[in-house]
Amino acid sequence: MRLHYSLTLLASAVLLWTGTSASPTPGHHVVHEKRSSPPPAWTKQERADGNMRLPLRIGLKQRNLHHADEFLDSVSNPKSSKYASYWTAEDVADMFAPSDESISSVKLWLLESGIPASRVSVSPSKSWISVVNATVSEAEALLQTEYYTYEHYFGKKHIACESYSIPGHLSAGEHIDLIMPTLHFDAKVVPGRDDLSKRDAQTVQAGAAKNVGKNSGFLPKQGAHLNPQSIISQLEHCDTQIVPNCLRALYTFPPGFTAHPGNSYGIVEYTPQAYVPADLDMFFANFSKKQVGQRPILASIDGGIVQQEAQSFGYNGESDLDIEYAMSLIYPQTVTLYQVGDEVEGASFNNFLDALDASYCAYEGGDDPSQDAAYPDPLPGGYKGAEDCGKFKATNVISTSYGYNEADLTPAYEVRQCHEYMKLGLQGVTVLYSSGDNGVAGNGDQCIGSDGNYNNGTSGRFNPSFPGGCPYVTSVGATQVPTGTNIVLSLATGTQPEVACETVIYSGGGFSNVFEVPSYQAAAVSHYLTTYPPPYTAAQYNNSGKARAFPDVSANGANYVVAIDGGFSLVYGTSASSPTFGSVVTLINEARLNIGKKPVGFLNPALYAHPWVMNDVTQGTNPGCGTPGFNATAGWDPVTGLGTPNYLKMLGLFLALP
Ligand SMILES: *[C@@H]1O[C@H](CO)[C@@H](O)[C@H](O)[C@H]1NC(C)=O
Ligand SMILES: *[C@@H]1O[C@H](CO)[C@@H](O)[C@H](O)[C@H]1NC(C)=O
Ligand SMILES: *[C@@H]1O[C@H](CO)[C@@H](O)[C@H](O)[C@H]1NC(C)=O
Ligand SMILES: *[C@@H]1O[C@H](CO)[C@@H](O)[C@H](O)[C@H]1NC(C)=O
Ligand SMILES: *[C@@H]1O[C@H](CO)[C@@H](O)[C@H](O)[C@H]1NC(C)=O
Repeated sequence: MRLHYSLTLLASAVLLWTGTSASPTPGHHVVHEKRSSPPPAWTKQERADGNMRLPLRIGLKQRNLHHADEFLDSVSNPKSSKYASYWTAEDVADMFAPSDESISSVKLWLLESGIPASRVSVSPSKSWISVVNATVSEAEALLQTEYYTYEHYFGKKHIACESYSIPGHLSAGEHIDLIMPTLHFDAKVVPGRDDLSKRDAQTVQAGAAKNVGKNSGFLPKQGAHLNPQSIISQLEHCDTQIVPNCLRALYTFPPGFTAHPGNSYGIVEYTPQAYVPADLDMFFANFSKKQVGQRPILASIDGGIVQQEAQSFGYNGESDLDIEYAMSLIYPQTVTLYQVGDEVEGASFNNFLDALDASYCAYEGGDDPSQDAAYPDPLPGGYKGAEDCGKFKATNVISTSYGYNEADLTPAYEVRQCHEYMKLGLQGVTVLYSSGDNGVAGNGDQCIGSDGNYNNGTSGRFNPSFPGGCPYVTSVGATQVPTGTNIVLSLATGTQPEVACETVIYSGGGFSNVFEVPSYQAAAVSHYLTTYPPPYTAAQYNNSGKARAFPDVSANGANYVVAIDGGFSLVYGTSASSPTFGSVVTLINEARLNIGKKPVGFLNPALYAHPWVMNDVTQGTNPGCGTPGFNATAGWDPVTGLGTPNYLKMLGLFLALP
């Protein structure tokens, strides 16, 4: 029986993933992955030149992934006797390495297809098989497909196909996960500097708002410029301006006072996003005087540089925001800046993951240049070093304020990437992602029309974010202090001062169309759907209670006072929420490390089991797609998750755990 996994309704490009549907007849090709049209912002052009070389690589199915939930639960569920007994990178690589049978089956297929063994290389991790010097014609014959050139809104070109086939026994036989480059368009979505320099900051934001700079889709939004004299210092004014002390008051955490050498906090930025050193100093001069002159520790991945030639809100807003707040909230601990990708080619989440995990790396250096976000970068002026594979250590907490729409990518691609976050969790790393800024709609307010294409957000299916829907990350939504609320009075009377963010942005939230509800979340989701049944249909979102829902938690995302390009501005976004939440987690890790315990690692099982360590947010909505969105309610909801952090209560919980 054919088991088509049809995602027709949800994808911008209509996706049909037939990864497990093949009839296992050796030699007979079956469609392995397919999309009906390129993702939004990409237009198909001419057929690719058959002699052009492609960095063809075959991702093998990993072993033991069906035990992934169990493994991760054992180190992150507070009830487990192995809580916080984290794995080493070697433990992880050994457990999930593909089988020798997968390797030999794929090698045999390549040999039978006329590719000599001398041109086939297996990565040391055994996860990828590369065909050295493959041409477009060879790939077309091998995969029974046609490659075309596609052009992105920002002018980048990409070689891709819209469907490919492989022998049935390899598709069905748990051997091949996915093949690249084929129909995955994630790479190079971060516009290069040359593209950006043609546009001013406003257009860059508008571009992101049209979902063309997908990775930049969560660019925070800029509000009013502030006169420095008008910056508030009293907590009474946290309804109009958020400064570090407002966050400390809201979430009851003190300034940091120790710097355990084992503690670390990483912020991920994609070039050409860059912080401006003078902006940090301007911020510190006002809010953290001892830090004037301090900078984050730079971890430059694939030639990542903190470029200073181009400056505008579009280039600096995200980085300045993330780094100013993370550095001042956790001081005297330090922040590591993972700056990913060179200025010419940019980078994708996979480049970052490759840098942390050699076993995920598609290349082992020296491979041919490619269309993809591959390093060394073949383009003029690009980074010529080898791609960074497993060269960087993961920090205890990693916060990323960039994201895709789930519908921009294929399920196979997303599932594979999601498993990397699971592996980081096994090693005790907390992975945080902003949940998105468009409520139930996707980046740029896009929703999914009945034809499967984006429809500019007036109606249609809700458009969840990725990796917000990956069950192995902690997705962070946004809240705000409503105008007129004095948080000092609220806190004194034990009233929740915050509601879901409805100023400039709406907290991203909803239900995944790809991932199943994880066990740690099932009861919370079921409680929400049965207690407050939303008046929407299954055509609008997966209402079965079986889909992974997000966000998991939230933190303030409105009115942040940020020094950008020499002046103070108000900034909005889940882009602010994630680094703030990560700062609180880092302070908790500090306290655990100081008494000889390990970092908290993957947080979700502990937080869903102990929701009272969060400040429940029960008001506000996250509109989108022509609807008011979901309601924040008592208990978990798909707007603000379990709520905002209560540091003192979280500290009590996590210090008591092994
Ligand atoms: C790949 O191509 C390069 C130059 O075109 C050549 O030097 C190299 O030997 C080729 N590699 C293999 C394994 O065929
Ligand atoms: C911020 O710095 C400026 C310039 O030094 C100063 O005028 C202003 O009073 C400061 N504001 C606060 C809240 O510290
Ligand atoms: C969405 O907006 C763009 C730009 O205005 C337009 O070209 C496109 O046709 C619109 N799509 C739909 C489905 O309305
Ligand atoms: C809803 O999500 C579950 C879990 O991922 C899936 O099994 C089910 O097919 C989805 N329902 C629809 C209508 O897509
Ligand atoms: C939100 O709450 C309002 C008022 O109780 C209700 O009318 C509406 O249906 C709710 N919306 C959702 C999505 O649950």
